[in-house]
Amino acid sequence: MTQGPIRTLPMLGITHGNRNPVTCHLRCGDACAKPIPNQSGAPSFRDVAAGALSRRSALGGALVLSVAAATLSESEAAAATGNNLTFGAIAPATADIDQVRVPAGYRWDPIVRWGDPLFVGAPNLTAAGTDPAAQEQQFGYNCDYLDVLPDRGSTTRGVLVANHEYTNENIMFAPDADPALVARTAMAAHGFSPVELRRSGAGKRWSYVVGGRRNRRITATTPFTLDGPAAGSELLKTAADTTGRRALGTLNNCSGGTTPWGTIVSGEENFNQYFLCTGDEREARYGLGPDGDERGWRTVDPRFDATGSAYRNEPNRFGWVVEIDPENPRSTPVKHTAMGRFKHEGANITIDAATGKAVAYMGDDERFDYLYKFVSKGTFDGSGTAAARAANKRLLSAGDLFVARFTGDGLEDGINDGTGIWIPLTRGGRSMVPGMTIDEVLVYTRLAADKVAATPMDRPEDVQPSPKSGRIYVACTNNSKRGATGLPGIDEANPRPANKDGHIVEITEIGGAHTGTRFRWNLFLICGDQSSAGTYFGGHTGPVSPISCPDNLAFDSRGNLWISTDGQPSAIGLDDALHCVEVAGPLRGRVRQFLSVPAGAETCGPVIHDRDGSVFVAVQHPGEGGSWEAPQSHFPDYGSGVFAGPRPSVIQVTRR
Ligand code: FEO
Ligand code: CA
Ligand code: CA
Repeated sequence: MTQGPIRTLPMLGITHGNRNPVTCHLRCGDACAKPIPNQSGAPSFRDVAAGALSRRSALGGALVLSVAAATLSESEAAAATGNNLTFGAIAPATADIDQVRVPAGYRWDPIVRWGDPLFVGAPNLTAAGTDPAAQEQQFGYNCDYLDVLPDRGSTTRGVLVANHEYTNENIMFAPDADPALVARTAMAAHGFSPVELRRSGAGKRWSYVVGGRRNRRITATTPFTLDGPAAGSELLKTAADTTGRRALGTLNNCSGGTTPWGTIVSGEENFNQYFLCTGDEREARYGLGPDGDERGWRTVDPRFDATGSAYRNEPNRFGWVVEIDPENPRSTPVKHTAMGRFKHEGANITIDAATGKAVAYMGDDERFDYLYKFVSKGTFDGSGTAAARAANKRLLSAGDLFVARFTGDGLEDGINDGTGIWIPLTRGGRSMVPGMTIDEVLVYTRLAADKVAATPMDRPEDVQPSPKSGRIYVACTNNSKRGATGLPGIDEANPRPANKDGHIVEITEIGGAHTGTRFRWNLFLICGDQSSAGTYFGGHTGPVSPISCPDNLAFDSRGNLWISTDGQPSAIGLDDALHCVEVAGPLRGRVRQFLSVPAGAETCGPVIHDRDGSVFVAVQHPGEGGSWEAPQSHFPDYGSGVFAGPRPSVIQVTRR
C-alpha cells in the first residue's frame, strides 16, 4: 500500500517495435525495449544460407511495383467472392484519420462500447468515467477476441463474447483520480463480456440486450478452476490458494477461438507486466521481473507482489488458455494447464477427422518464441446432447503438447518452404523433456521448448485452421530483432532481417492428420507494400492492398482468409486494417482491404458472417496515444455521447 499507479509513460517515442509506443507500454510492458526473453541460443534454421530471400518472393514484388491497391475493382471482387460480402477494396489511409472506413455500399454501427451497462439497473458510463462497482456491470475495456454466435435455428437471437485485453488509465481516468480506485476499476475492466444480442431479421443490425440471461462480466478477480496435469502442483500454490487449483481472474486476454462444442477459449498473453517479481531465470524467460509493477495493482491486492514467499507462485497462475461457457453464466471458467504456459496469443481448435480428437493450434507471441499444438486425449462427441457437451468441455483438460520445428528445403526452388516436425513436450500425461517433470514442462513451457530446439519464430499470433482445406495459417506479425547481433538470423520460414511487416505461414499436416507429427509448410504471404523487395502474395502478381503486421485471422464460409492488422501505422504509415485474401484458386494471394479503424486503434476480432452480409470487428485502443485531458480519438460517439474520449467498441459492418 505504498505506491499508486504510475500514470506517466516514460517510453513514449522510443518504441523498437511496430506499435504506438503507448500500446507497447500498456499492453506489452515495453517488451520490445527489453532483452529478448528467449536467450536459449536456440538456432533458427541450420539448413539455409543467411541473407537469402526467396527468388520467387523477390520477383513477385518486382513485377508489380507500379500497381496501386486502389485499382482493385468492384467487379473483380464480386467475381471472386460471389457472396453477400462483395466489395471493392478501399484505398489505404494514412494513420491519422479518426474514422472507421468501409467499402462503398456498406455502413458501420457500434453494437456495444466500453462502459455500456450489461445488467438492469447498472450505471452507464458518465462524463466522469466509471468506478469499480459500475465497471463490474459494464462492458470492459480494449476488446480483442470476438465472436458473434447466433442461437441454433435463430436469425434474431444470439450471444456476443468479447474479451478485454488491457486498460489505458491515461484515457479512462482523470489525472487526479484516486490510485486505488484506478487500480480496482482497471481490474474490473479486464476479462470477458458475454452479452446477449437481438435483431429483427437476417442481415439486420444486432443490438445488445441490457439484462440478457447470458450477460456476464468476468474480471481480474473472478474465480477460475485450474485443471489438467499441473493443477494442484506446488508451482501453483499460494498463501490464498493452498490447493493450487483455484485462481482469481484472467489477464491480458488477447485472441482466442470458439470451440466446436460452443465454448470460448482465449490466451492470457502479456501477463508479466502485472506482477512485481524478483526475476529469477525462470521468471525472466517470461519477462517477469522487478519492473513489472506498472499498474500498481499490488497496492490494492497483495497477490500482485510476487517477491515474497506468500505469492511467489501467483504469476504461474497466468499465461494459460482459459475456457468460458457463454451459455451458462454461473459456470466456473477454467485454466487448462495441459495446454502449456506461455504468452498465449490464443487457441483455435479443430476436430481431427480420423480420430475425433480436438487439436488446438497456438502461438506464443514474443519475438523468437514458438508455435505449439495440443492434441486431446479424449474424442469429440458431436451428438449435441447435454451429456456430450459436458464431456466435450473436458477435452482440453488432458492431452499431448507439441512444439514446432521448421526445416527449409533451400531456396533453389524459389519458394520459402520445407518440412517440419511437431516435437512432443508431453505425452500420455508424462513429460517428454529430459530433466523436467510434467508440472515443470507445463508451467515453464518456454524452457521445455528451448530444450528440444524448437524454431524461434517472428512473433506467432493467431493460428487458424482452414475449415475448407484443413491447412493451418500462422500470422507471424513482425520481429524487429531478427538477425540482430547475438540473436537468431534469418531462415527460410522467417526470411527477413528486422522483419517489420511480418508474414503468414501455411502449414499442411502430412496425410491431413491434425494429430500427426510431420508437416509441410510454405510462406503464403510475405507482407508489406507490394513495391517493397521481398514481399510475396501467394503467387499473385496483380494488384493487392498493402498489408503489414498480420495479427488476427478468420475464415469466411467460402474459405477466404480475413486478416486484421496491428501495427501498420508504424510499419507502413497506414491505419490498421481488415483485409480479405483468397487462399485457393486463380486469385490466391490477392489481398484486398475491407476496412480501416480509427487513429491509434488496432483491428481485432474479426468475425465474418458473409452469408449474412455482416462483418464484426473489435476496435481496440482507439486514440491510444491520447489522454483524459487531450483525447486523440472520439470514436465511436464523435461528441454525441456523455464521455468525451474514445471508447473501445465492437462494431458491425452491414450493407446499406
Ligand atoms: Fe495481444 Fe499478440 O497481440
Ligand atoms: Ca524452398
Ligand atoms: Ca493480437
